[in-house]
Amino acid sequence: MDGNGRWAEERHRPRLFGHKVGVDSVREIVETASEIGVEILTLYAFSTENWNRPTREVSGLMGLLKSYLRSELRTMMRNNIRLRCLGGQDRLPADVGAVLRQAVADTCSCQGMILNLALNYGGRSELLGAVREMARKCQEGVLDWGAISEASISDHLFTAGQPDPDLLIRTGGEHRLSNFLLWQSSYAELYFTEIRWPDFRKQQFLDAIHTFHLRQRRFGRTGVQVKEA
Ligand code: IPE
Ligand code: MG
Repeated sequence: MDGNGRWAEERHRPRLFGHKVGVDSVREIVETASEIGVEILTLYAFSTENWNRPTREVSGLMGLLKSYLRSELRTMMRNNIRLRCLGGQDRLPADVGAVLRQAVADTCSCQGMILNLALNYGGRSELLGAVREMARKCQEGVLDWGAISEASISDHLFTAGQPDPDLLIRTGGEHRLSNFLLWQSSYAELYFTEIRWPDFRKQQFLDAIHTFHLRQRRFGRTGVQVKEA
């Protein structure tokens, strides 16, 4: 969800105003995704690198996150949305962590769309955690190093039990992954748009999904093989 800051700066407004309007986009995209039957939606809300931003912007973002979780909890439950968190929660302010854990617990039996919030998330740090955990298990004798498979790596990530993403959308005009779902995105279709996140709404989301449907996913095979399958 990139481009909030520039969206605001282009309007001669403080960056936090961009983040506020960005929350409206979040509401609209979550609602649309759940409406059209997306099974899992992951929002990259705050990276491990975002802590390097000015303290005021970080606390503004944390405040927005807390109020979003509070105000949306009922809507999430009504829409049967299950909230999950990707990222270490240890570094989040205590009040934000508490609201988040509560929202995750309150929606844990919802059977509709899964909403993954990537918060204090970084793909490399996630992989590092998985490697350490697997090494520990090997040392304890509960995991055999020779039996470690791609699936066992997936099982040690925050997204354990979930399928890999099909489509990865980055708004705001940058063409990079910025440490997002590095392992899980190996075969994701990438969609980059200049549109700033506050302007990314239902129609723009549907356009991205339409483009996705026009792509041929070959997974290493030839186009002819895919057509014959
Ligand atoms: C939102 O956009 C991303 C978050 C960390 C919430 P940015 O704040 O990165 O916006 P730009 O890139 O400065 O425009
Ligand atoms: Mg940015």
